[in-house]
Amino acid sequence: MSPAATAITVRDAVAADVPSMASIYDEQARTSVATFDTEPRGAAYLGEKVAGAAGSDIVLVAVDGDELLGYAFSGPFRPRPAYDGTKEVSVYLAEGARGRGIATQLYSALLGRLDALPDVHTQVAVIALPNDASVSLHRRHGFEQVGVLREVGHKFGRYVDTAWYQRLG
Ligand SMILES: CC(C)(COP(=O)(O)OP(=O)(O)OC[C@H]1O[C@@H](n2cnc3c(N)ncnc32)[C@H](O)[C@@H]1OP(=O)(O)O)[C@@H](O)C(=O)NCCC(=O)NCCS
Repeated sequence: MSPAATAITVRDAVAADVPSMASIYDEQARTSVATFDTEPRGAAYLGEKVAGAAGSDIVLVAVDGDELLGYAFSGPFRPRPAYDGTKEVSVYLAEGARGRGIATQLYSALLGRLDALPDVHTQVAVIALPNDASVSLHRRHGFEQVGVLREVGHKFGRYVDTAWYQRLG
């Protein structure tokens, strides 16, 4: 189990959260294979997600007072109507916020919201390997690995595999 969860608030993201969210994401683009972006995206990418949140496209943030600790979102899996009941989910935390159960709280809230929507049938998560924390997080929330794509990413001079996880519910 994760260490005792910090007393934080999980709520829907608003426009004022976007700069802090972008800072978390851009740090991952620069330093990690967790995203296959290789350059910072700035505020536009997440600003669009937050502005477009509606129905099963959900963006949640975890905050401790004024400090934004991380975010999780669900969005379209692929842009074809027959995929509409399938949502892709992901989560990013600030480095200092990890290992305290915060992603677990974000995912519990996010998946709870999706489970309440009759049109959402399944969720997919794509995890660049290795990422033990993300694998544990997804397994804890009922995701199962359905496959691994070998060497589909190339970042920091090496090829990266992605594990595909799915949750039916
Ligand atoms: C992956 C990430 C979201 C996990 O967030 P977190 O708040 O640290 O996770 P939690 O504390 O809620 O723990 C979730 C699970 O991961 C495990 N875990 C946490 N940190 C771990 C680590 N460094 N190594 C191995 N397992 C770890 C926990 O024990 C827990 O497992 P359990 O429920 O089976 O006990 C966070 O590390 C992160 O933002 N990483 C960078 C971005 C990223 O990789 N995002 C995922 C993209 S797919």
